[in-house]
Amino acid sequence: MTQRTILLIIGGGIAAYKSLEFIRRTRERGLAVRAVMTRAASQFVTPLAVGALTGSRVFSDLFSLDDEQEIGHIRLSREADLIVVAPATADLMAKLANGHADDLATAVLLATDKPVLIAPAMNPRMWAHPATCRNAATLAADGIHFVGPGTGEMAERGEAGTGRMAEPLQILAAAEALLHGVPHIDGQPLQGRHVLVTSGPTHEPIDPVRYIANRSSGKQGYAIAAAAARLGARVTLVSGPTALADPPGVNIVRVETAREMLSAVEANLPADAAIFAAAVADWRVASAGRHKLKKAAGTGAPALALVENPDILATVAQRQAGRPRLVIGFAAETEKVVEHATAKRQRKGCDWIIANDVSLAQGSVAGGVMGGDANCVHLITAAGAEDWPVLAKSEVADRLMRRVAVTLREPGT
Ligand code: C5P
Repeated sequence: MTQRTILLIIGGGIAAYKSLEFIRRTRERGLAVRAVMTRAASQFVTPLAVGALTGSRVFSDLFSLDDEQEIGHIRLSREADLIVVAPATADLMAKLANGHADDLATAVLLATDKPVLIAPAMNPRMWAHPATCRNAATLAADGIHFVGPGTGEMAERGEAGTGRMAEPLQILAAAEALLHGVPHIDGQPLQGRHVLVTSGPTHEPIDPVRYIANRSSGKQGYAIAAAAARLGARVTLVSGPTALADPPGVNIVRVETAREMLSAVEANLPADAAIFAAAVADWRVASAGRHKLKKAAGTGAPALALVENPDILATVAQRQAGRPRLVIGFAAETEKVVEHATAKRQRKGCDWIIANDVSLAQGSVAGGVMGGDANCVHLITAAGAEDWPVLAKSEVADRLMRRVAVTLREPGT
């Protein structure tokens, strides 16, 4: 496969420093980056730094004869698979919405027939100004894709509101979704849908004070529930015991054991999509003591007889009536990840499996996968396997739920 190239247009805003991180992250994924800087952008980051990170020269001048002979705005556009504008300032958005082409950045944007993704970044008052609102609506109608802006603290002290540029990993996730042909839909595409999510470990009692558990933090499932809610779904999160705060806007049902989890899941069907991210204990103690097991002298350790727990994912996936349209499982694997997960998809009868490479230790995935904040997954569907880059768990969640939204829109799934 030939290397895909992102043409990054850096606008002149304080968020330009984040475009350096975006270049690093993008190149880590094996994508090539070429950069065009506006004149204002070089007030915030130097072409030298940008060039060092992209590994190629930086373009900025529309009228440089050398450049036009060697590589002009048409060729820059032709040789890219996707154009990303980050930061997209209010001024750049206005120029793009009105078809200006008075510098290299705007000339490239006007000349291109490639998908364009913009990451707006500006002061909240500028973002809320009717002119910017008009321009954003025009750009959306022209088929320009947006990522962000987010809400929070601004670079100017004491300023807060909407206008923060999306984080580099978020921009990358949106860019990769476009490169992979998945539409990046803004707004609330899951409105009117019910999404059910399981998460966390289960606790299987040995007696009233002891239990069998595992190290699942519940972070990925909670992130999925939060992403589904952000995208407009009604969300039921059936959670084993975790230390996490309830995600906002989510109906949470807290359970302890696998059997309680199965009953809670069944009680909350029907759902349009069900995502099983819980690390359910495979076994429980056959007859958990009603009283605390006593340590008696001379009798040694008690033998714990285990019995198998119900497989919640397989039970729901194989329901005759009331099966969610999309049933999605997880598979934590340490070797032959795709092969094992593909077999698991068939065995369980689910539609998709998110195969989790848990062998990735600290270094490649900060903090490790189990309990950490990042994840390296492959999406296994009937059509095959798709490799996703190492992403924050929140990014995996967002990308997965957008994919769910797109699939639920298709007839007959
Ligand atoms: O079989 P394994 O535990 O590897 O399968 C993992 C997938 O199955 C996960 O999606 C997990 O939530 C689900 N599962 C389940 N009930 C079980 C065991 C696993 O829902 N008892």
